[in-house]
Amino acid sequence: MIIFLVGFMGAGKSTIGQKLARKWNVPFIDTDQWIENQYSKTIQEMFAQDGEKVFRQRETEALKQISSTSGVIATGGGIVLKEENRKLLKETGKVVFLSCDPKEMVRRLNGDQSRPLIQRLDEEGIVSLYKQRERLYKEVAHIHIDTTGLSISAAVEEVEKRIRSFS
Ligand code: S3P
Repeated sequence: MIIFLVGFMGAGKSTIGQKLARKWNVPFIDTDQWIENQYSKTIQEMFAQDGEKVFRQRETEALKQISSTSGVIATGGGIVLKEENRKLLKETGKVVFLSCDPKEMVRRLNGDQSRPLIQRLDEEGIVSLYKQRERLYKEVAHIHIDTTGLSISAAVEEVEKRIRSFS
C-alpha cells in the first residue's frame, strides 16, 4: 500500500508522514529529500541554479519512481500543479490532503529560508498561493483532514483512523 500526503508547505506532511511510517513500520519517503539526494543539491540551490521548471521535471520523475514502491510518501506542496502528477497520485495510492488554517500555516512558515517560493511573499501572498492551489489538493485527495488545532500525535491518529475506514 502506498499513502501520499499532499498539502501546502507547512501543513505537516513530513512530520506526520514520518511518525505514521514509524508506527506502521513501513518505509517513509519525502519527495523533496529524494530529489535533493538524487542531485546532491538543496531545493533552494536547484531553484536558483536550474530554475523551477527543471525542479518540476525532476519532481515528476521522482514521483514516477517512488510510486512503484510502498510506504508513506510526503510530497512537495506544488506536486499537484501538474495534471500528470495528480493522475499518478490518484491511481497509484491513497491520497491524503492535510490542511490547516492558512493563518496557522503562515505562522509555521515564518522565518523559513529553505522554501524558495515564499521568500518574496508576505502573509497575504502566501495565503493567496494557498487559495489558488486548494482546489487541486481537494481534487486529488481521497481523504481530507483538517489538522488545525491537532497535536502531531492526534493528527497521526486521525490519518490512521480515516485510512482504516476508507479501505
Ligand atoms: C513547494 C513546496 C516545497 C518544495 C518546493 C516547492 C511548492 O515542499 O517542493 O520548495 O511549490 O509548494 P514542502 O511542501 O515540503 O515545503
